Amino acid sequence: MIVPASSDALHRAAHIIRHGGLVAFPTETVYGLGANALDAEAVRRIYDAKQRPFASPLIVHVTDTEMARSVTAEWPAVADRLAKRFWPGPLTLVIKKSEVVPDLVTAGLGTVGVRVPANPIATELIRQSGVPIAAPSANLFGQISPTTAEHVWAGLGDRVAMILDGGATKVGIESTVVALRNDGPVVLRPGMISQSELEEATHVRWEQELNVPEIRDADESPGQQARHYAPRTPLYVLEAGMARPNGRGRVLAMPRDRKKFAASLYAELHKADSEGLEWIAIEAPPDTGEWAGIADRLRRASKHEN
Ligand code: TXA
Ligand code: MG
Repeated sequence: MIVPASSDALHRAAHIIRHGGLVAFPTETVYGLGANALDAEAVRRIYDAKQRPFASPLIVHVTDTEMARSVTAEWPAVADRLAKRFWPGPLTLVIKKSEVVPDLVTAGLGTVGVRVPANPIATELIRQSGVPIAAPSANLFGQISPTTAEHVWAGLGDRVAMILDGGATKVGIESTVVALRNDGPVVLRPGMISQSELEEATHVRWEQELNVPEIRDADESPGQQARHYAPRTPLYVLEAGMARPNGRGRVLAMPRDRKKFAASLYAELHKADSEGLEWIAIEAPPDTGEWAGIADRLRRASKHEN
C-alpha cells in the first residue's frame, strides 16, 4: 500500500518497524526496504521480500553519528572527518561492527555499513522507531533500484506492509560505500560523492584498487556483482562512433549535468523497460572521477546474460 508520508503515516510506519514488520521509505538516493536492524527475524523478512541471497550485507540507517557509534565497535578519526563532512548524505561507512548487530545484517562479516540519510522522512522514521533501520534498495534482487514509491509498488507490491511516498528521490543512484581499513580507506562502490571529494576531506592516503580481498569475501554482495541494477530489456552503452543495435529500440536522451543525469537515470530505465523494446541505449558518460558512480551503474546494467 502506497501512503503519503503524513505524520499519521509515519507514526503507523514506526509502529510496524518496532513490531518487526517492513516499511519502504524514501532516502535521498533511492527508496529503501526497512526493518529493525537489531531484530534478526525482522531482517530475515527483508531478504524474503527481495528474494535476496543471505550473503549480501545490508546498510544500517541511523539519525546521527551517536547512533552510528551504537552499531560500530570503533570510531576511527577518518570516520569522524567523513561523517562531519558528508552526513547526512549519500555516503556509507563500513566499520567494525558492534555485537548488537545480528550477523544476518552483515552477512556474517565483522563489519557493518552505516549511513545517515539526508531525507527528513527517513530520519523521522528512524527517530520514531527508536532503532537503527537496516535497508537495502526496495527492489527485487538484481532489478533496477526504485526512485519513486510507484517503482517500489511495481516491484514488491504487497510484500511490504507500507510504502511511504515522499516523491522522487533527489540523488537517484545508491550511496558511495567506503571501507575504513587500517591501511587506508577504499571505495567499495562509487557514487555521487567522488573519490577526490573524499580524499580532500580526510588528509590520508586512499587505497586505489576496487578489487580488494574484502570485497571478494563478500562476494555475493549485490553492489559488487557484475550484473546488477539491470532492466529486462538489453541496455547498450554507446561509445562515440559505435553503431546502434538492430531492431526496435530507443536511445535515451540524458541530461549533460551529472546530478540531473543520476537523478533521472533509474526512472528513465524503468520507463523504457516497460515499452516492450528490443534494446535501450545510452551514450557513454565522460570518463572522469565525478562520473564514476554513474559509469559503474551503466556498466552493471548493460551486462547481458546470454
Ligand atoms: O543509497 C543506498 O546505499 C541505498 C539506500 C536505501 O540507503 N541502499 C542500498 O542498499 O543501495 P543495497 O543493499 O542495495 O546495497 C548495499 C551495498 C552493497 O554494495 C553491499 O555490498 C555494501 O553496501 N555493504 C553493506 N555492508 C557492507 C559490509 N559490511 N562490507 C562491505 N560492503 C557492504
Ligand atoms: Mg540494491
